[in-house]
Amino acid sequence: MPVKLYTLPELPYGYKDLAPYISEEQLKLHHQKHHQAYVTGANNLLEKLDKARKDNIDLDIKSTLKELSFHLGGNKLHTLFWKNMAPSGKGGGGEPSGNLADMIIAEYGSVARFKKEFTQAAVSCEGSGWAVLTVCKTNNRLDIIQVEKHNVNFPAGQPVIMVLDVWEHAYYMDYKNDRAKFVENFWNIVNWNEVNQALSKT
Ligand SMILES: [Fe+2]
Repeated sequence: MPVKLYTLPELPYGYKDLAPYISEEQLKLHHQKHHQAYVTGANNLLEKLDKARKDNIDLDIKSTLKELSFHLGGNKLHTLFWKNMAPSGKGGGGEPSGNLADMIIAEYGSVARFKKEFTQAAVSCEGSGWAVLTVCKTNNRLDIIQVEKHNVNFPAGQPVIMVLDVWEHAYYMDYKNDRAKFVENFWNIVNWNEVNQALSKT
């Protein structure tokens, strides 16, 4: 049976379509180089594991799995990130609706308060990382978490429904060191409908 490998998913919009909030140049680099690197990295490790199992060769499992989780996390989060954005005014920006809006208001009091906390999580994430919205199915709460390096602080079993990449490679070309500005502009391209659908699938 051939090993199943990952492929770089296509963006659900054109490279120019998130401008001026994310430029064509920035988005192309992020998608074609950085995301591709996680896909390639995960595939290389899966092939390495497969070969080692076939040939019955011992690997350094700890370091291999750590590296694999890094690439798998990168691939998963980037795939979600592209989906939870849309061109401004064409699915991007505006206000959340439906169950998502109800749960945000129940948890945070208002959409403005939620955006403020999510923004603070993104801006204050140490080094490279992600601001992530998850659903705790035990208590039916919407939790904001900070994920560092793709594979740290990931609560097991909590579905991720919205993410924001705050690695420098996500914004440096457009915003230099002004991460806060990038985060502020994320709200112009967030695809609330997609986040609501992701929530409904949990
Ligand atoms: Fe990224």
